[in-house]
Amino acid sequence: MTDTRTRCDRTPAWGLLQDHYERMGRGFDLRGAFASDAQRFARFSQQAPHVFADLSKNLIDARAEELLLQLARESGLEAYRDAMFAGEAINNTEERAVMHWLLRTPRDAQTPNATVAAGLQEVHGTLDTMLALAERVRADDAITDIVNIGIGGSDLGPSVVVKALEDLRHPGKRLHFISNVDGMELGTMLRQLRPENTLFLIASKTFTTAETMTNAHAARRWFVEHGGSDDRAAPLSLSRHFYALTTNIEAARTFGIDTTLGFWDWVGGRYSLWSAIGLPIAIAIGAERFRALLAGAHAMDEHFRSAPLAQNLPVRLGLLDVWYRNFHGFTSRSVAPYSHGLRRLPAYLQQLEMESNGKGVDARGETLPFATSPVIWGEPGTNGQHAFFQMIHQGPDIVPVEFIALREAGRDLADQHPRLLANALAQAKALMLGRANDDGHKRFTGNRPSTFLVLERLDPASLGALVALYEHRVFVSGAVWGINSFDQWGVELGKVLAKDLEPRLASGATEGMDASTAGLVAHLRAG
Ligand code: F6P
Repeated sequence: MTDTRTRCDRTPAWGLLQDHYERMGRGFDLRGAFASDAQRFARFSQQAPHVFADLSKNLIDARAEELLLQLARESGLEAYRDAMFAGEAINNTEERAVMHWLLRTPRDAQTPNATVAAGLQEVHGTLDTMLALAERVRADDAITDIVNIGIGGSDLGPSVVVKALEDLRHPGKRLHFISNVDGMELGTMLRQLRPENTLFLIASKTFTTAETMTNAHAARRWFVEHGGSDDRAAPLSLSRHFYALTTNIEAARTFGIDTTLGFWDWVGGRYSLWSAIGLPIAIAIGAERFRALLAGAHAMDEHFRSAPLAQNLPVRLGLLDVWYRNFHGFTSRSVAPYSHGLRRLPAYLQQLEMESNGKGVDARGETLPFATSPVIWGEPGTNGQHAFFQMIHQGPDIVPVEFIALREAGRDLADQHPRLLANALAQAKALMLGRANDDGHKRFTGNRPSTFLVLERLDPASLGALVALYEHRVFVSGAVWGINSFDQWGVELGKVLAKDLEPRLASGATEGMDASTAGLVAHLRAG
């Protein structure tokens, strides 16, 4: 496809934003902004499907937002978004369409063309098969432990969702997520399992990822050593206890797996929890709730696709990210879910945002003269308050914080929920207002930005919408930056070098290596 975008730094809005930053942005004061505008909360808050966002405690005024919207228009954001929703190959370096949104599109939805229509039929065929399979596993009392072996997008998405929806998990099914090639992770888990009660899901888009394949082979060895068999007729057969979730069905079959669920190259790994990669979620919460997860995400897709830019939450958040990264120069953003269920969300968002937008060249391969993805990091509240919030309140770096709160309490100890919410509100307020004090140690300068997202409750639909919101927000900043958010060439080199280094660790051969790596190889072999 021809990329019709204009890179942000080549638009008229870019220069206007620079001027505006110098005149108003650099010295912007939140307290003054609230004092002079009684409508600030209303102006800078936004209701989107399942997610309410208060953006008012950000270092932004109406003019900055206007210019950012101009930037989005001049960059060609809308046409680029529409190209994604038309199934065009916007992942240009891999010549692939980007259609994770199709995975949550209703069966009878209008489609823009025959390719998307055909994709939608396939999506629903596989979804029906997957959900029927999930229900069979849920009904099978012999299976008590489901072990998902996968890494990156084949681990983080399902693991975040399963943890978040713990209240809704089938009580007879324990879900485990194994990702690290460190044998301690799988080894510790296997000691707690019995093969006759265990189902392994080998989750890998490519079915070639070294960590996943290593763990999958180790699991199979353990299974056979504990009475399992390759023979399909055997009572404890590999065929019954191993499923594969992959686009590479052939490789899964070669591994010896009969039950395979497929998906398509137009689903990026970090966007894949809605596909067959979501099987552990469906086993945990059941078919109907999995459909509710998809429906929540779809509602956000529709919002992103059709809401005017000025009332479009992914657009507003994505543009705020550009404002902070390229004009304020903030290098990171902290995510603070005030929810135990969402404790792994920061890890998930790290992959989503940094693997998508951590790029140094534009989609044409030209080196970028400006910064892209911020560092995304965080921990759930209130834990983070007793760890790194000191730095966010008083350190010299400004770190925008994203609070995520749930209006309704979860199932357990609901009486503690008001205390949790009060803490989230207090942190956001303290960051903004600060506190004067003659003693510098006790002084809070304030004027520190935050965004506050609220979900009604942690249910499948809200969670689906929240994740889709983040996906589209990453799309927006990536689109404006002119990059391809859907490839990840930066992970390749390390994979190649690890292949070379493993035999050298065994043999000690260090010729041709840099002195540091050679020294470390020798040190690791010693003793
Ligand atoms: O190495 C990075 C990566 O390719 C991610 O993009 C992906 O989510 C992960 O590895 C796992 O890949 P796969 O699902 O093919 O095993």
